[in-house]
Parts: sequence; C-alpha cells; structure tokens
Amino acid sequence: MRKSKVARKEIASVEIVDRLTQISPSATLASAEKAARLVAQGLDVIDLGQGLPDFSTPKNICNAGITAISEGHTRYTANSGLPELRDAIAERYGTLYGVEYDRSETIITCGGKHALYSAFQALVEDGDEVIIPTPYWVSFPAQVRIAGGQPVFVGTREEDDFIVNAQDIDDACSEKTKAIILNTPSNPSGAVIPSSVLKDIGRIAIDRDLVIVVDETYDQFLYEGATHSSPLGLGSEAKPVTLSIGSCSKTWAMTGWRIGWATGPRKLIGSMSRLQSHLTSNPTSISQWAAVEALTGDQSAVADMLAAFSERREVVLKQLRSMPGVTCGQPMGSFYAFPNVSGTFNNRITTSDDLATYLIDEAQVVTVPGSAFGRDGFLRVSFAVEINRLQEALHRISEALSAIVV
Ligand SMILES: Cc1ncc(COP(=O)(O)O)c(C=O)c1O
Repeated sequence: MRKSKVARKEIASVEIVDRLTQISPSATLASAEKAARLVAQGLDVIDLGQGLPDFSTPKNICNAGITAISEGHTRYTANSGLPELRDAIAERYGTLYGVEYDRSETIITCGGKHALYSAFQALVEDGDEVIIPTPYWVSFPAQVRIAGGQPVFVGTREEDDFIVNAQDIDDACSEKTKAIILNTPSNPSGAVIPSSVLKDIGRIAIDRDLVIVVDETYDQFLYEGATHSSPLGLGSEAKPVTLSIGSCSKTWAMTGWRIGWATGPRKLIGSMSRLQSHLTSNPTSISQWAAVEALTGDQSAVADMLAAFSERREVVLKQLRSMPGVTCGQPMGSFYAFPNVSGTFNNRITTSDDLATYLIDEAQVVTVPGSAFGRDGFLRVSFAVEINRLQEALHRISEALSAIVV
C-alpha cells in the first residue's frame, strides 16, 4: 500500500520538457481512436477519418514476409536498412527522375513519419524556420517544433485547388529559413503540385541554400491523368537540395509493417543514419524483406486499389457537391476530399470541430476537422472506405446537414 503512494507522488512531480508539453496528439490518430471507442459501445459508426487503405497487404508481399521469417531473416539488419531495399529505392528515383542515386544516399526507416522526424532532427537548430504550406499534414508542424524549429505557414487558396504559389514561398523565406516542406499529392487537400511550380521552388531552394523535404507518400494515387513530379524534375542540379520521403504504407497497403524511406544528400542521410543507430537500430527485418517484394514485385494490386479509389472519388465528389452548405474542389491525388463546409455553420456550429462532433453525434460518421490541418472551415473526408459504407456515410451526412442548413 505504502509503496504505491510513493509511486503516485513521484509521478506527480515529473516535469516534462516544454517542447513536448506543447505538442497535442495526432488529430487523425485521435479520430481513429474515437471511432473505435464508439464501435466498442455498439454504435454503427462509419469512419471517414481514417488515413489508410481499407485493403489488405497484397499476398505476394505477405508471402515475402513469411519467407523472411522461415528463412531466419530475423536478426538486426544493417543500420540504414537492407542493401537490397536501399538499392531498390535508389533505382526507383533514378528511373523516375533520371537523377542517379546510390545506396549511401538512401535510408530505410520505420515508416515515412520516422524519416521525416529524423530529417528535422538533422536539419533544424533551435529557432530555425521551416516553411509549411497550409493545409498541412498534421505531423509536419509538430515534428518541426519537437526539433526546436519554428513552422512558418504559407496559405494556399481554395480557388487555386490548394496548389502552393512559389512566390509566396519565396516571400516567406527569411535569414532563419532552413527548409521547405512540400507534400504532393497532399494530405488533406489532394492537391498535386505541377512540375513547373516544383521547379520554381527548386530554384528558390538552390538560390537560398535551403532543403526541400518532399513528402511523396501518395505519389501512386493520381486521378484524371494527373502526373506526379518532384523538384528533381530540374535534374541533378536539384539533388543537393532535395530530400525525398516515401512510404510503403499507402501504396502497398502496408501501414502496420512500418516501412518508409528517405533519399537525398549523402551528408544528411548519413546524419539520419547515425540518429537511427541510437534510436531504432534498424526497421524490422521481416518488414524490410516484404518491402523488397513491394518495390520490385508484381504491381497489379496497386492498380486495383487505384481503380477502386477512382470510383469512390467520383461518388464522394458528386454527393458532397449536392449537400447543402458544402462546396468541394477537385482532389487530383491521395484518397481524401477536403470540402469547404463553412456554409453549414450557424450560431451553434461555428467551427469545423463543432461540425465534426455534430456529425459523430447525429450521423455516427467520423471525419477530421480542417482545423487539424491548419484550415478551419473544411473537413477531411477519406474515401479509403468500402463503397457501400461510403455511400451510406455520405447519405447520413447529407441528412444531418439538411437539419441545420436552412
Ligand atoms: C502526408 C503523409 N506523410 C507521411 C505519412 C506517414 O506514413 P507512414 O509513417 O505510415 O509511412 C502519412 C500518413 O498518414 C501522410 O499522410
């Protein structure tokens, strides 16, 4: 008895460093937990807040993981990842952009999130500024702050389909700017930054000696003929200023396997590797062998997922646009729509947080409020949900909105 009282007292006196007390938990993970809690209470909740494909990892990839276990590939791997996997990543960028990379310019990480985290730890000194276009993926500002940096937000316009303007980025640069984060296709807006804009931003980075961290997590999910580009479209000139971040999570429905990567300047990759050597040693060996198959094996499952997302996207856009008080642009990539819902606000529902809460209470549908991505007035609606459930959810949202929009 006495012992537990002492333990409680000790816990109460623990002081947590400022930079962590200021960080809120990821809003998207919080919404997933909320959905799970309601389902556990027996409610028929539909989760359009989730940021993961509803498909299972393709069989060939699972089998590669199983083979890795049965062949005994269950020990630590090289700190920066399996040579086979690093070579596959290096080759991927060479093929995509005609810019040569070798193994020493890539690192395999425990998901793209971990690659981003290590990059900011390596790049950002206390007080350095990092430019982040809004709406942004929830973890960008948090990770910059954890590294001691200061996010500098650059707004994008709904009427420009949330595509960032290179001049706005240039205007936001200061003596303290260290890096620019670009996420194309974007979570949450689905914006795909055109090659010309990426090249302009590449030139800004070269002139100002900044690093562009390009998050390409959704690069395989593109619609209506949209094409994915990178500042590397400028050619080898952009190589010293570009850090490309990728992930197996969405492309191959491998969220639980936790494999991502970074490709970029050798010095930066080297420091991320040193950090990794003290942090995780290496990502899971089994997952890395599965990832080799993901990158180099049969890609038909990716095409199947894309076809399903395209069909659902049509349904989502049509239905959202028919709802009272809602307008919605055209997401050209990822698997999210980002409708403007400010037309539904009234004297009781005044923010996207209020609306998301209302939709959970009234319609049992989970969405993520735009405020989580730095843009109140919007909601993120995931279409990585089976089509019948998606239709049911949209029907429920429409009914719930009709009750509040006059
Ligand atoms: C834009 C973006 N970047 C990175 C990640 C991280 O993915 P993971 O750590 O699963 O590779 C996500 C996941 O939702 C994302 O949406």
